[in-house]
Amino acid sequence: MADTATPNVIRRADYAPPAFLIDTVALEFDLVPERTVVRNTMRVRRNPDASHASNLELMGEQLEFVSAAIDGAAFANAHAHEHGLTLDNVPDNFELTLTSICNPAENTTLSGLYVSGGNFFTQCEAEGFRRITYFLDRPDVMATFTVTLRASKADYPVLLSNGNLLEEGDLPDGRHFARWEDPFRKPSYLFALVAGKLVALEERVKSGSGKEKLLQVWVEPHDLDKTRHAMDSLINSIRWDEARFGLELDLDRFMIVAVSDFNMGAMENKGLNIFNTKYVLANPETATDTDFANIEAVVGHEYFHNWTGNRVTCRDWFQLSLKEGLTVFRDQEFSADMAGGATDEAARATKRIEDVRVLRQMQFAEDAGPMAHPVRPESYVEINNFYTMTVYEKGSEVVRMYQTLFGRDGFRKGMDLYFKRHDGQAVTCDDFRHALADANGRDLAQFERWYSQAGTPRVSVRTKYDAAQQRYSVTLTQGYGDAAPAARETQKGPLLIPFAIGLIGKDGADLPLQLEGETKASNSTTRVLDFTQTEQTFTFVNVAQEPLPSLLRNFSAPVIVEYDYSADQLAFLLAHDSDPFNRWEAGQRLATRELLTLAGRAATGVPLQLDDSVVAAFARVLTDESLSPSFRELALMLPSEAYLAEQMAESNPAAVHAARQFVRKRLANALRKDWLAVHEKHRTPGAYEATPEAAGHRALKNLALSYLAELDDPAEAVRLASAQYDAANNMTDRSAALSALLNAAAANGGSVEAQQALDDFYRRFEKEPLVIDKWFALQATQRGSAQRPVIEIVRKLMAHPAFNLKNPNRARSLIFSFCAANPAQFHAEDGSGYAFWADQVIALDAINPQVAARLARSLELWRRFTPTLRDGMRAALEKVASQVKSRDVREIVEKALA
Ligand code: TRP
Ligand code: ZN
Repeated sequence: MADTATPNVIRRADYAPPAFLIDTVALEFDLVPERTVVRNTMRVRRNPDASHASNLELMGEQLEFVSAAIDGAAFANAHAHEHGLTLDNVPDNFELTLTSICNPAENTTLSGLYVSGGNFFTQCEAEGFRRITYFLDRPDVMATFTVTLRASKADYPVLLSNGNLLEEGDLPDGRHFARWEDPFRKPSYLFALVAGKLVALEERVKSGSGKEKLLQVWVEPHDLDKTRHAMDSLINSIRWDEARFGLELDLDRFMIVAVSDFNMGAMENKGLNIFNTKYVLANPETATDTDFANIEAVVGHEYFHNWTGNRVTCRDWFQLSLKEGLTVFRDQEFSADMAGGATDEAARATKRIEDVRVLRQMQFAEDAGPMAHPVRPESYVEINNFYTMTVYEKGSEVVRMYQTLFGRDGFRKGMDLYFKRHDGQAVTCDDFRHALADANGRDLAQFERWYSQAGTPRVSVRTKYDAAQQRYSVTLTQGYGDAAPAARETQKGPLLIPFAIGLIGKDGADLPLQLEGETKASNSTTRVLDFTQTEQTFTFVNVAQEPLPSLLRNFSAPVIVEYDYSADQLAFLLAHDSDPFNRWEAGQRLATRELLTLAGRAATGVPLQLDDSVVAAFARVLTDESLSPSFRELALMLPSEAYLAEQMAESNPAAVHAARQFVRKRLANALRKDWLAVHEKHRTPGAYEATPEAAGHRALKNLALSYLAELDDPAEAVRLASAQYDAANNMTDRSAALSALLNAAAANGGSVEAQQALDDFYRRFEKEPLVIDKWFALQATQRGSAQRPVIEIVRKLMAHPAFNLKNPNRARSLIFSFCAANPAQFHAEDGSGYAFWADQVIALDAINPQVAARLARSLELWRRFTPTLRDGMRAALEKVASQVKSRDVREIVEKALA
């Protein structure tokens, strides 16, 4: 394997407990932007459960070592080196005091202690704490922390850290201090501090057991008017975790802080969550419905980590999905409950569909490329590269399968046992599985394969109806198809797949389900089959008529289902399936099949045509008033270009774009009157409401507008979009109108209306960075044309005064949007997109390796593309491979080229 040749591969199999443990940590910070002095006093002892080591090896990076003392006396045998500090021949149990200096002002990696907008912030997961002080920076070393912060009172009036505030006061020379104590043991990755000019929205709430809690959302003063939704989301999260899992907030105070320079979404530091502003700040003028929903989800996610991640944490980083997969599952369930409660299946399905779309588009693609890895990876070079769709989203699906197998109550019993056994510990994915198995009295040995096998499983289905015997047999076969090499080597045997199925009769109603050997039909018309063998046949009896199967209802497992539905059968399922997820799924299958056929024709220059029956199936959804607007919007949205390209034998983004545009135009022109009616009918006049219902109306209305912008004569759409832009009282409608104007004008190389709206948008929101991010992103993802390629617009925008490569949100809004969300333009035949990509990866590598490595991933599927594109991508990858310095980017490009 390539792995053995690469140095510095970390392997799961090599796990060993730490030779020393650290029980308490007292940190003192003298915060100065260019030169922060950190004094760290630790109680250290030998680990009785580890093999003996005479030296203590502490991790440290980018630190200036000042001094070491053991039990109060200077210690001479301390040697600082590139990776940390070695202390020779230390005692068995001692107090260690270390002093070091770091430079937050120059820290553009946004890992460790850094300055953003004149304030101090930290980011320690996964291995950032070692950039603050020398430490055993691994999650199985847990300590209690006391933190003293000292800084200029005028420049840094607010001083925050984890836990409870013990004391604060003034110091000489205009300085002041605050001392914080976190009563809970925690690994170093959960440490945080914040210092600066911030203000908070505050709320006091009572937790389930009647204790009063102080909640704060800290932001820069001009953002205080955008904190209400985050606070409401936090309160809802607290209530939900009590109600659904019996888990209470364990601190007297819980803080959220927003920062505009941040590598990811947010971070669950104990009692002091630090958030990307994108996932905190919202009001109707600046944030879309999607932003509101994302904020609710991320606030929930970080809050839920307090139990799944913090109270019970990971033994090592290979177990990352233990906390991330589980916490994504929890935030998905939270959002579903907020939208539809426990019983509104249609509203819950909306959330489920959105989550599955992300999984299929992003995680399935990851599984098909060189970065394919199991939910619990076996090795890594840089752990930051393994905060992936597989660990998070597939990990969440794996957790969801326990709930599908055992029901909500059985899942809850498993969670209760997990906390009973492991509260306060650093544990493994196996520990979680065992708790679920033991609480439900089931052997889950086979289920372990979901953690150890990479690749997307394929389930092919054969059915047979025996009219004379009234028997219907369903034969399931599982395998991985032609999985990527990285995935293939992990595959050992069949999985335990909970396969939910229903049978639908001629009238569209569900048939009763009785499996062979059972005495009567079950109450439910959906059955979860325990599919455990490579091939297995399930026979239903007393089936009075030949049914149509509804397969993998509610997407009961993260697999690809292969079954030969006819177009008519899919249209029937789209109209009748009682499972709302599968109704949507039928439409997607129908559309995908048509689009792939058309893409194949486009690739070979054959004229395109679309059957009237497909248009009719979509028309029925569009005009079916019994369906919720949000469902109709999801059902009428075609599969993305990236997803479609992925399904081709050879990915051809230009052909996919041509095919998808052809269908969009055809649906626009054929159903013009209906789109116009829907656009009119689903307006939401009056004050903006952030409810799921109102958001559903806006989503459907704006989808209609986007189709209308495809009309052969777009004049009417331009009029509607301009009017909507001018009248909008919320960002959802305003940005949708701007997008429609841009796309309506694309074929003609732009329009006056589009340019005016763009200019207005910029002026109106000049002081709102998150909205200016949208301004960049809308332009980077717009449709292009031969006379107006988007790369030229992107290049110009790179020189715009508001562009800043150092700010990850801004870099993502322009560069990532173009390279990862505008495939038809990015994959231009002339290779201009790839040359741009290479330049930006190299530039970012010197500033922020984590962000650079994310961008680097946008070429990893290069082998699957058409020959010309493949050659262009390989050349760009080789250029990057020859120039980058960081371990982060090197791992990505070397795996891609291997
Ligand atoms: N643990 C965080 C979450 O998912 C994500 C995270 C991991 C992160 N590493 C990070 C956030 C680095 C910011 C920077 O909730
Ligand atoms: Zn998380």
